[in-house]
Amino acid sequence: MEQEVERYRKPTRILHWVHAGAFTILFLTGLILFIPALGFLAQDSWTRLIHRIAAALFIIAPLIYIPLNWKATLRGVKDAFSWGMDDVGWLMAAPRYYFLADEEAMPPQDHMNSGQKMWWLLVIVFSGVFIITGLIMWAFKTVAPAALLEWMVLIHDIAFIVTGAMFFVHIYLSVIHPLMRPLRTGAWSSMARGKVSAHYACSHHAKWYERISKGEEIEHQ
Ligand code: HEM
Ligand code: HEM
Repeated sequence: MEQEVERYRKPTRILHWVHAGAFTILFLTGLILFIPALGFLAQDSWTRLIHRIAAALFIIAPLIYIPLNWKATLRGVKDAFSWGMDDVGWLMAAPRYYFLADEEAMPPQDHMNSGQKMWWLLVIVFSGVFIITGLIMWAFKTVAPAALLEWMVLIHDIAFIVTGAMFFVHIYLSVIHPLMRPLRTGAWSSMARGKVSAHYACSHHAKWYERISKGEEIEHQ
């Protein structure tokens, strides 16, 4: 049997899937509110109710996860905000790597490559934007000045367009792109089972793999 290494711990995977589920529901109900032609689907305001239930889940899930897993949280946030020359190397190599499948072009990457860092950063920043603007529209709809509510809708919509587009890029790059295969031991498996093959870890995240092989890395994300 092929040797495997742990990439994401169980609590992290549970948070990912609960958050991904809540986001998908928020995205779909948001889309119905956003596109006037889909207005007939929003009759009886059920989309608004489901949007609010999913929003509560989206906010509560990390609030439960963070205090129980603060080391992994700090580490993930630190990774997302640490940028250096390695990231310049990733950016220069990315077109050849992703479009021409030229694996040689890509310099060794850490636990998170720069593309993953960008997605993580986007999720952190835009979750804050969604929560602040969403809660203002939710709690102060009847008392806030109309101009403020209009601004909140506009900012919420911009966040929806940016994260919505990147959501599809994320699914493509973590599940569909040929270099992330095979499903059983590649990127999908890291979030589904928590493990990837040693070969995948070494070819996609060589710097991180080197540390695990030397036994230097004990805490996983
Ligand atoms: C996580 C916290 C969130 C909260 C508290 C929240 C709350 C709200 C509220 C109260 C509304 C107004 C609904 C109404 O008309 O009564 C709204 C609209 C909307 N939400 Fe959210 N939301 C959140 C996250 C999201 C996410 C993650 C997305 C999409 C990815 C999203 C997309 C939308 C869209 C597109 C609208 C329609 C805005 C418009 O009328 O143009 N929301 N949201
Ligand atoms: C529902 C569709 C989704 C699928 C199929 C999916 C799949 C995956 C997979 C397979 C990974 C592991 C990639 C790797 O380590 O090589 C991953 C990582 C991750 N996902 Fe998702 N995901 C989805 C939605 C989301 C959503 C909505 C968010 C944010 C709210 C999110 C946030 C993350 C983050 C922060 C990571 C770690 C960094 C990265 O690998 O990009 N995912 N996802």
